[in-house]
Amino acid sequence: MLSQNGTLVPSSLFKANYDECWFEIGFGTGEHLSGLMRRYPENAYIGAEPFMNGMGAFLKDIREESHDRIRVYDDDAMVVAKSLADECLDGIYILNPDPWHKTRHHKRRIVQRANLEHFARILKPGAELILSTDVPYLADWMITETILSGHFEWTATSCKDWQNKPENWIDTAYQTKGAKGADKMVYLFFKKKG
Ligand SMILES: C[S@@+](CC[C@H](N)C(=O)[O-])C[C@H]1O[C@@H](n2cnc3c(N)ncnc32)[C@H](O)[C@@H]1O
Repeated sequence: MLSQNGTLVPSSLFKANYDECWFEIGFGTGEHLSGLMRRYPENAYIGAEPFMNGMGAFLKDIREESHDRIRVYDDDAMVVAKSLADECLDGIYILNPDPWHKTRHHKRRIVQRANLEHFARILKPGAELILSTDVPYLADWMITETILSGHFEWTATSCKDWQNKPENWIDTAYQTKGAKGADKMVYLFFKKKG
């Protein structure tokens, strides 16, 4: 059981040393997370995904490989975020989070002020928060919440920076299959201040 008291040091989770530690929140069926693991075997990864079929697909995908730098949690990512120690992560990915369309459900959105306080606490100064969505009003919401949290700088300098798929981007299943009625994907890169 995770403590949720901000003391969990990632190095205590991994036997091997690693260069960087990244956290992917809501990894779905895990194509992006396994892609990162294969591309950057020198880094360690923590993933959280409560959708059992997604977790199953991810574990099946990596089962024949030896990875000693991955740990997954099969429930709410905020339990992990609240458990992690201060300034222990090099980056967080939240790709295509659920939009929670109805106004009364906005408080369930994962990118929101209260959760951003936790993300800011566990990220190192200069570490990255990387978000994507194809839902225009969720993009607006995530940009506004993240900037107003006061902890992050948006690194975009022109619209190309959020409209064009970044070089070396690893597609997620959601992105590949496309959501019905989906708009154009945006890619939002923030850096933690400090
Ligand atoms: C629209 S899907 C996107 C999945 C994947 N990132 C992709 O792009 O293919 C959103 C995912 O977030 C997960 N999710 C929702 N709330 C979560 C939470 N509190 N902690 C972790 N994952 C969560 C859902 O189970 C779902 O798999």
